[in-house]
Amino acid sequence: MVASRKKNPKTCMLEPVCEPFGLIIFGASGDLTRKKLIPAVFSLYSRGMLPERFFILGAARTPFKDEEFRKHLSEGISEKEGKAEFLKHIYYSSVDYQRPESYKNLKSTLQRLEKKIKTQKRRLFYLAVPPVLTENIVQSLGENSLIKNLPDVRVVIEKPFGWDLESARALNRTLLKYLTEEQVFRIDHYLGKETVQDILLFRFANSIFEPIWNRNHIEHIQITASETIGVGERAGYYDKAGIIRDMFQNHIIQLLSLVAMEPPACFEPKRIRDEKVKVFRSLRQMSKKEVPEYTVFGQYIRNRIDGEVIPGYRDEPGVKKDSKTPTFAAMKVFIDNWRWQGVPFYLRSGKRLQKRITEVSVHFKTVPHSIFKDIVSGDIKPNVLIFRIQPDEAIELTFQTKIPGTKLCFRDVVMNFSYRDYGTELPDAYERVLMDCLRGDHLLFVGQEGVEIAWEFFTPVLEFLEKSKRLVLFHIHDYKAGTWGPWEAEEFIKKDGYQWWVK
Ligand code: BG6
Repeated sequence: MVASRKKNPKTCMLEPVCEPFGLIIFGASGDLTRKKLIPAVFSLYSRGMLPERFFILGAARTPFKDEEFRKHLSEGISEKEGKAEFLKHIYYSSVDYQRPESYKNLKSTLQRLEKKIKTQKRRLFYLAVPPVLTENIVQSLGENSLIKNLPDVRVVIEKPFGWDLESARALNRTLLKYLTEEQVFRIDHYLGKETVQDILLFRFANSIFEPIWNRNHIEHIQITASETIGVGERAGYYDKAGIIRDMFQNHIIQLLSLVAMEPPACFEPKRIRDEKVKVFRSLRQMSKKEVPEYTVFGQYIRNRIDGEVIPGYRDEPGVKKDSKTPTFAAMKVFIDNWRWQGVPFYLRSGKRLQKRITEVSVHFKTVPHSIFKDIVSGDIKPNVLIFRIQPDEAIELTFQTKIPGTKLCFRDVVMNFSYRDYGTELPDAYERVLMDCLRGDHLLFVGQEGVEIAWEFFTPVLEFLEKSKRLVLFHIHDYKAGTWGPWEAEEFIKKDGYQWWVK
């Protein structure tokens, strides 16, 4: 069943950026730059969204000449018309993040490029570095007069923002010492995904769902973000971070806030941030002791799938042989407010699971009384509304129908709106967020307060994982790579009378 209207426009695009700029990427030799940022900038460039005058200055420890750096990046972007021209906009300056002289060199390179390309001091610093380095870099940029008192400077920080509540607070303090909140962009690329943005449109541009969007009609909500990939070459970061810092404190909790928030008075960054903060403040805080009751953790182990051996987490290069870092978590949370009192939100994410899929499913209550109970055996299935964030982006609603025939039998069917029906490729999340940074639009970014409260909420979970070594041994369960996580996660939801929707 297709619910799209064919006559609607296929795409709806922002105006190109017209002011010249310099994009300075810290952590430029890393994976994120090569695989996500540069391809996103190239895509914007080839679609004519960037001004003629711009430059990208990569900064990282690895020594590169400009040409070598261009070659390194070139391998990560598709062969398209304009690629050679695009690469000419890219430069490199090697930086030792801890050494003040490095920033002096960087400053003179930057000033030289600004003079040559005439971008004035319109600078976008993108910090794609591990969180331990972020504060130090901001501090050095501040002390070397690279950001301070320059109104056209913006600083973009990749997640995780800080490592825990303390470091997030310290980072925020340092940022605000040199910049205004308006100049800071805390990126959570999930917010740049088309379907994530559509949650708000769906909820607040349609009048029929809002009246039932509450505890009176909704039984429970599930959010799953499952990945088939393992940690790959990111063990150095991941083995310290784990699934809670990597996915829950940011992507998952952001999704939760969009599903659960109250309607803001208008579609304005500050109003939306305020509503999200209210959701975070209403999360029922668990104590460290309660963590085992509300969570299940797992770590993937070796498995053979279709003849191929998939290594276990502890066999991955760079992972400690006795690592207790969880690569899977399932969690039950409650939001203590009038709308959501008593409605459980089940959150789940993991690496090396069976399928790559991110989905939010809203499970409505079953009918209060079945008039069919004497005629039809079995339960009437409740309606489920699904936001498929990726892949096969879609919104679906399940409902009951009668199977054609003389006997009365039910079947649940799906009404489906697929983004594929637009017949156009969805823009990449990084393209969208980069474009918004350049335009100074904060709608898809995370505010200081939201970040800190999210850390506060996860602090007992992290303390449990990192400070209760013996307990953790019993609470991190093995799961075979390529499955749906530990068996305990199935039991966890089953004991409440539900099952995972995505499987
Ligand atoms: C990143 C995490 O933020 O998100 C990665 O650090 C994860 O571990 C990735 O793989 C998932 O993003 P996406 O867009 O592929 O769902």
